[in-house]
Amino acid sequence: MNNDAFVAYVAAENKVEAKDWMPDGYRKTLIRQIAQHAHSEVVGMLPEGNWITRAPSLRRKAILLSKVQDEAGHGLYLYCAAETLGVDRDTLINELHIGKAKYSSIFNYPTISWADIGAIGWLVDGSAIVNQVSLQRTSYGPYSRAMVKICKEESFHQRQGYEIMIALCKHGNAAQKKMAQDAFNRWWWPSLMMFGPSDAHSPNSAQSMEWRIKRHSNDELRQKMVDMTVPQAEYLGLTIPDPHLKWNEERGHYDFGEIDWTEFNEVVKGNGPCNKERLNARKKAYDDGAWVREAASAYAAKKLKRAVDAA
Ligand code: 3HC
Repeated sequence: MNNDAFVAYVAAENKVEAKDWMPDGYRKTLIRQIAQHAHSEVVGMLPEGNWITRAPSLRRKAILLSKVQDEAGHGLYLYCAAETLGVDRDTLINELHIGKAKYSSIFNYPTISWADIGAIGWLVDGSAIVNQVSLQRTSYGPYSRAMVKICKEESFHQRQGYEIMIALCKHGNAAQKKMAQDAFNRWWWPSLMMFGPSDAHSPNSAQSMEWRIKRHSNDELRQKMVDMTVPQAEYLGLTIPDPHLKWNEERGHYDFGEIDWTEFNEVVKGNGPCNKERLNARKKAYDDGAWVREAASAYAAKKLKRAVDAA
């Protein structure tokens, strides 16, 4: 098969499997994107993990604990999907630790109050769902199938976050309502940045769309998130931190203000509020877990030797 035939193959909604022929660039793009997705899931555990011991009730603690554990599972699931492309996990994790691989900008912001946990579930997992529902139709089979399971769990993540916001905004006192508005102000724009640069400034989108890796553009998904979230914010009685936000009857969408791309680029470059803290935490967790990896590989080696000796 050549690239033109491959483009026609995926355009006909065929799935590409691990052992199929694929252009080198297709494989490279998928390894980059799936690895970064996996890194994002694992780093994403840190901001919320920070509140597990400080959750306001046992019920809230149990819900947050299960959400953070889900994210770990998503990361492992996605590292497995990346490994089907012939790359090994240690290489990917090392690239994260040395700053060669990216993870989502959104996880470089601090979680200042309990309302942040609500805003993260509602907005960050909300953006993730918009992006990942679209990825369920990505042309690479293992990635698209991983998305089906992950999207089911993300829906729970988004609902539990929104439930926290309802508790604060509809049943909370003035201070709790203020805490929710403050969290909304801090998480609204970074959640829109999750969808990546504008289409005009996205170097990967055109090729990813032709290969059906991406099924919608960054701006299309961002617009979908805005349109979905504004009514939810209005129900909560929250003010959207964007004076330019306005329903456009003609377009059938909300018009909204310009994203601060300087902030986005700085955070992606590693200059966000928590980038260093997040990477140091990941490197420490990796070092602290070395004994588990050594024990697991020693056990596997012993089992293999026993099987070889018995054969
Ligand atoms: N944070 C960090 N880097 C970002 C970014 C973000 N929010 N958005 C884009 N970038 C990077 C891209 O990786 C690319 O850099 P690279 O070529 O060095 O990798 C560059 O900016 C240009 O962006 P493009 O739009 O051209 O890149 P893509 O075509 O890869 O699109 C994407 C970016 C939409 C994020 C796409 O990679 C994608 O859909 N990834 C899978 C989903 C994902 O990773 N989501 C992250 C959050 S995971 C999550 O939310 C977990 C949930 O449980 C909360």
